[in-house]
Amino acid sequence: MNDKIAVIRGATTVNSDTAKDICESVTELVGKLVSENGLNTEDNKPIFCIISSTADITAYYPARAVRESGVLDCPLFSCLEPPIKGSLPMCVRVMVEAVGLDSARHVYLRGAKVLRPDLCGTFAVAIDGPSGAGKSTIAKLLAKSLNMTYLDTGAMYRAIGLKMHNSGINISDEAGINRILCDTDISVEYKDGVQKVYLDGKDVGEEIRKHYVSKLASDFSAIESVRKKLVEMQRKIASERDCILDGRDIGTKVLPNAPVKFFLTASTEVRAKRRYDELTAKGEKCDFVTVKKDIESRDYNDSHRKVDPLKRAADAIEIDSSDMSVEQVVAKMTEEIERKRGERK
Ligand code: DC
Repeated sequence: MNDKIAVIRGATTVNSDTAKDICESVTELVGKLVSENGLNTEDNKPIFCIISSTADITAYYPARAVRESGVLDCPLFSCLEPPIKGSLPMCVRVMVEAVGLDSARHVYLRGAKVLRPDLCGTFAVAIDGPSGAGKSTIAKLLAKSLNMTYLDTGAMYRAIGLKMHNSGINISDEAGINRILCDTDISVEYKDGVQKVYLDGKDVGEEIRKHYVSKLASDFSAIESVRKKLVEMQRKIASERDCILDGRDIGTKVLPNAPVKFFLTASTEVRAKRRYDELTAKGEKCDFVTVKKDIESRDYNDSHRKVDPLKRAADAIEIDSSDMSVEQVVAKMTEEIERKRGERK
């Protein structure tokens, strides 16, 4: 046995501030950390563990979960993290020191591998808002002019909705949804700066834009396991490059530490007209009244679902684009992004 001391890190987010959820997440985290590193064995001994949690975790001491689970046999120290603007909420971090390890295997669960904004290497812009507010048009233009990657997160929910539809899965069939999710490969690639979405290896870029897929995407996006899978993918993509992401929960959930956040809206009438023009330009048959009703029903679905509903982040800049041209919105956002980028240099 070598007598080097290794430091193993781990972190997890917690679904809600309840004893049950805190206990479950922390036990899973420490259990994985122990098994991945072969701790508690003759050769690899944990000697000390520090646990820290964000101040929004109040229902249960995370350290108590570690103690009660019995998986880590060493002294524990627990502390509360100071509030850091924009840092990942509901997060528990552990640091274990152990002797005898040749290398440490760090463990990050439930999307917890998100750096604090002050330590973050990449730059992200979050654009949230309801359907038809112009998010994707604006985000594409900004990404091009600012040399950033555009991530259309709605396309990912559309691909999942399409897969569930093709597999004959109903929105109330939780077991079926989870089974399909495990068996679904969604990937996002960039060709000449354009995002391509592949579902099980097939380019579904055109199909997911069809009208019938919008409702499917909205319905299945309310399912927690669907969101968990896609949020993790989105965070990973954003951790690898400078990104502009558009969606419903980017500023509130996916990247709460994004340095620039916008909430783009427009009146229902204007949004329905834009969607109608877009669909008819592509040759889809539709009537304005139905498109408007669909927009209203999606607005309701997206903002009333239990998990990460569409909501303006407290620190997002709200822009109502009803009476603005695309160029005006782009100019306003560019100014803000450049200012924030400048502050980081
Ligand atoms: O932006 P879009 O219309 O392509 O999105 C399709 C649906 O996906 C939308 O009705 C809600 C859902 N969605 C979401 O819940 N969270 C996101 N970040 C993006 C989209």
